[in-house]
Amino acid sequence: MLPYARPTITEAEIREVEECLRSGWLATGPRTQRFEEALAAYTGTSHCVATSSGTAALHLALLAAGVGPGDEVITTPMTWVSTANVVLHIGAVPVFADVEHATLNIDTERVEAQITAKTRAIMPVHYAGLPCDEDPLLGLCRDRGIALVEDAAHALGASYKGRPIGSIGDATMFSFHPAKNLTTGEGGALVTNDPDLAAHARRLRYHGIDQSPENRFGGRGPASYDVVEAGFKYNISDLQSAIGLHQLAKLDERNQRRGELAGLYRQQLAGVEHAEPMGDAPYTYDHAWHMMVVRADTDVLSLDRDGLVQALRDRGVGAGVHFVPLHLQTLYRNRARDEDLPVATDAHRRILTLPLFPDMRDEDVAFVVGALRDVIDGCIRRT
Ligand SMILES: Cc1ncc(COP(=O)(O)O)c(C=O)c1O
Repeated sequence: MLPYARPTITEAEIREVEECLRSGWLATGPRTQRFEEALAAYTGTSHCVATSSGTAALHLALLAAGVGPGDEVITTPMTWVSTANVVLHIGAVPVFADVEHATLNIDTERVEAQITAKTRAIMPVHYAGLPCDEDPLLGLCRDRGIALVEDAAHALGASYKGRPIGSIGDATMFSFHPAKNLTTGEGGALVTNDPDLAAHARRLRYHGIDQSPENRFGGRGPASYDVVEAGFKYNISDLQSAIGLHQLAKLDERNQRRGELAGLYRQQLAGVEHAEPMGDAPYTYDHAWHMMVVRADTDVLSLDRDGLVQALRDRGVGAGVHFVPLHLQTLYRNRARDEDLPVATDAHRRILTLPLFPDMRDEDVAFVVGALRDVIDGCIRRT
């Protein structure tokens, strides 16, 4: 089975993990510090707080940006569930705005229509690695004192109008789950240019203690400590950061390969009836090509979307679904009606994710597209 994602791990990562193990320092320490400095430099930001997951980073980002109980956070339904779950964890209210047809990124006009006096943050997701339209989102935030907290789980290495993703919003989260463009096994980070937000996130990351774990255990800070608020155990380990350091050094090269493969997909999918890749956005950007998502015209097919995914899997293509929109999940069903989110609701019937990872060969793309063509040809309804 060709999976939809597969991490690229080289001897460099393996050696660094081995050296980390031999060093005796496994938890948050010198490798995490280096990884954080490298991520901040890479994203053009002044602060990075690395965490145990992207979900943890997003939770910290919202709290450190001042979101509290009863506040509203406008976000997209086309995302992994943790984007909205962290809002609920805070006692705040997730509010869904529909997405654009071409990109499945949040629709700025729909965001504006959802703003109320209680809106405290807007949380876009750069779906599949294509940057959202940041300028109008920033405009909505700045005029009203709303925080822009970005879920860039898919978008490390992407840029919007020449600015790296991470350097634009008040705080930006990245995920280092094994399917992501950069992995640490599990892990995540938030980046920001706001020193107070960074300091607050750093404290919340480690129990609400007034000093970071590397200071406490590295003998650099005082032996005693003070807990100033109820924080979390969200710190990343040096074993994970050891992997991340080498993943980051290779990220641009691997993102470039993703772009080449995506280009091949787009060329070859042009010859497949009733399936088309996601479209472009009308501003300049660099795409991180985290995922290759296509929309199938299931209205003319005898298989529904899940049937198409299964038929592809039967042919050795590990297709996936990203995502089941949040307003269709039991937990979030009462938060929006399907007709309020027509684009996301419609996408649910049609989208599937095809394999895309840097180690794929050009022939793999031809294999996947051939399988998709066969499946679709075999189920076109002839009336
Ligand atoms: C859009 C999006 N947001 C948030 C997350 C959560 O990241 P993590 O799995 O690192 O907690 C993911 C990935 O799983 C994601 O795809």
